[in-house]
Amino acid sequence: MSSKMEIYNTFGLHATADRYLVINDESQLRQFLSSGQLSQPYLILGGGSNMVFTRHFSGTIIHLENKGIRLLAPKSSAEDCLVEAAAGEVWDDFVHHCIGHGWHGTENLVAIPGTVGAAPVQNLGAYGVEAKDIIHSVRAFEIATGRERIFTNDECQFAYRDSIFKGVLKNQYIIWSVVFRLQREFHPDIQYKALSEALHSAGIESPTPQQLADTITQVRWGKLPRPEEMGSAGSFFKNPVVPAEQYHKLKETYPDIVAYPVSEGYKLAAGWLIEHAGWKGRSLGRCGVYEKQALVLVNRGGCTGQEVLALAEAVTEAVRSQFSVTLQKEAIII
Ligand code: EPU
Repeated sequence: MSSKMEIYNTFGLHATADRYLVINDESQLRQFLSSGQLSQPYLILGGGSNMVFTRHFSGTIIHLENKGIRLLAPKSSAEDCLVEAAAGEVWDDFVHHCIGHGWHGTENLVAIPGTVGAAPVQNLGAYGVEAKDIIHSVRAFEIATGRERIFTNDECQFAYRDSIFKGVLKNQYIIWSVVFRLQREFHPDIQYKALSEALHSAGIESPTPQQLADTITQVRWGKLPRPEEMGSAGSFFKNPVVPAEQYHKLKETYPDIVAYPVSEGYKLAAGWLIEHAGWKGRSLGRCGVYEKQALVLVNRGGCTGQEVLALAEAVTEAVRSQFSVTLQKEAIII
């Protein structure tokens, strides 16, 4: 454990904490949990890809680096397989491992930054698939007691970019591994418009798993900044859900508005709202709205967490005053 450690985050914000603890194996974790060495507050850091640090963190950052991906052979069948992955595995390495082994279901979630342990926390999702669709269970340790607990998929209370680990159990459990239910036969999910268009223009009618992953990677990097090139936290805002009545009113004024029907009404494309509120490509201080995808706030160089918040507030206000819709942040603000 060291003091005043610099915390890695994909936004590239300067961030420090009192203590920084790297955990590699289960015995080390159990030892630390029972030693009483951890003082409140804690923050569990995955790949640092969804976090915006606005201040020094007066507490302990716990960074998991446990590794391992294994087929739970006795629990698998001819149709599907249960695969357990350690929380510290890099998410994209896990996706490619699954593709290489003929375990299907992760393909649409290729090229997403972060770790396996972070996937259930925010129920990561892209191109028509969410982590909740493939998660079987989550194995975690309660920080206060050191007790192990298995959360079934239902118990995780998954919702759009949300779970129990972001809600009532926030910072109370360390997710140690995730078990996925994957398919042995490949049934590609290619409904998402940008994806089906990209496959069509490449002349691919029924993609192989690798072709699907490659196409999604291309579509994704066409719109989102690569962490190594420009700092960001991916989508900074969630796509807001509004009642059907409100959507129909908006549609009368803005016939081109992009929205998808969901059970509670309509999910609006926040990127479209931000773009049409005039913020796409603009900056405030050293933080900007990404030119190719307005849902993403980017570090123009040397940006601080406070500058991110100031831009987020300006964008939220512009969208609220023009569309009467309140944007919620997807990124976690520390
Ligand atoms: N759009 C605009 N202007 C913009 C951005 C988007 O008009 O500046 C329109 C697009 O034309 C499209 C629609 O909005 O019609 C949706 O855009 P896109 O396909 O890029 O997806 P998104 O809804 O903006 C979500 C996720 C992304 C995920 C993509 C693809 C959230 C908050 N974001 O973005 O997730 O990769 O779908 O599935 O749900 C992330 O969570 O960090 C993330 C990148």
